[in-house]
Amino acid sequence: MIPWTLEGRALIPGGRDELLLWRRGDEFSIRIRGYVSELMNSRVHGSEEQLARLGCAPLQGRPNPHVLIGGLGMGYTLAAALQALPGDARVTVAELVPEVVEWNQGDLGACAGRPLEDRRVEVAQGDVARLLRSGPPRYDAVLLDVDNGPESMTHKDNDWLYSLAGLQATRQVLTPGGVLAVWSAAPDDRFTARVRRAGYTVEVHAVRARAGGKGARHTVWVARRP
Ligand SMILES: C[S@@+](CC[C@H](N)C(=O)[O-])C[C@H]1O[C@@H](n2cnc3c(N)ncnc32)[C@H](O)[C@@H]1O
Repeated sequence: MIPWTLEGRALIPGGRDELLLWRRGDEFSIRIRGYVSELMNSRVHGSEEQLARLGCAPLQGRPNPHVLIGGLGMGYTLAAALQALPGDARVTVAELVPEVVEWNQGDLGACAGRPLEDRRVEVAQGDVARLLRSGPPRYDAVLLDVDNGPESMTHKDNDWLYSLAGLQATRQVLTPGGVLAVWSAAPDDRFTARVRRAGYTVEVHAVRARAGGKGARHTVWVARRP
């Protein structure tokens, strides 16, 4: 049996927690030091891809769509978004932890097919919240998978993204009819109500962690700016 080896570690900006990149052959795992459960495993990415498919589907037919993805992780959401979007799309991917981008430029990047090399992609190093706090409508979709869901685990400041103020600010940077899609490990009725209160129409999707309808059930909200 191939043993796990520690390939990298990175301090999460603004906190004391560390992300650890583990590898066993061609399998990768990203963990937060001290937590039992994984943040991500390269063999389990069905719901991350569904986030992109569900979030990009309403954009069909829009010219030059611009999509913002919060959280690069292992790049599966990014790769699925690129597959769903036309050649004239632009995808900005915001990643808080610089080392995560470096890991994706190295061996980890092969897992999702090296989406960072697609010419439609630009990386915005830093907190995705910076891009959502103000400014004119400019994104046709915002796909958020920065944490465990509305209950933050990676970065306490992420709570703002899921708050009423964060949802309202995000609505302001979406173009009319634009989409906010949010991934979560668990359903959250109070979050659904908050999304409505922030002025969106919303659908809640139960999606499976693994491709082929297998694995744990995760939740994706698809909210639209009217
Ligand atoms: C669960 S992973 C995302 C997985 C990704 N959907 C995929 O397909 O691989 C969460 C990622 O979001 C990043 N992150 C956490 N908080 C963030 C923030 N506020 N802004 C940008 N990235 C953030 C983490 O460093 C991590 O890389």
